[in-house]
Amino acid sequence: MKHQSNILALKYRPLNFQDLIGQEYLVETIQKSIEQNKIPNAYIFTGIRGVGKTTTARIVAKMLNCTVFDKNNNPDLINCEQAKAITEDRHPDVIEIDAASNTSVENAREIIENVKYNPVLGKYKV
Ligand SMILES: Nc1ncnc2c1ncn2[C@@H]1O[C@H](COP(=O)(O)OP(=O)(O)O)[C@@H](O)[C@H]1O
Ligand SMILES: [Mg+2]
Repeated sequence: MKHQSNILALKYRPLNFQDLIGQEYLVETIQKSIEQNKIPNAYIFTGIRGVGKTTTARIVAKMLNCTVFDKNNNPDLINCEQAKAITEDRHPDVIEIDAASNTSVENAREIIENVKYNPVLGKYKV
């Protein structure tokens, strides 16, 4: 797999729901909502640093946009262009914002301005 990093937290970041430890209820709830095509407009993950909020958000983005799944129903990181692009942080429809440093009204305006445009590569804008 191409996702390389010297930073341990990134290197060992789970890339699918299966590798996420614990959080079974969360995974089940989100997976069901995707299967049933009842996808909420927003998820809010709370908890102290390091519990897996960012990791989970990225997996959700992948599950929503992935078109090729492997036999375990995980995003196929070799054959799915969508999942690959998200894992490599280069998917145009998946935008990650550090909320700790983007706290101004202007930052919020930028997000609001952005959401009105349809996704360009994937099925969903995340
Ligand atoms: N449930 C989990 N299962 C496996 N690894 C986890 C889990 N939660 C966190 N981690 C590990 O901890 C690191 C930090 O997680 P992260 O998603 O960045 O946390 P947060 O965004 O909540 O601060 C990740 O790189 C990941 O390897
Ligand atoms: Mg985080």
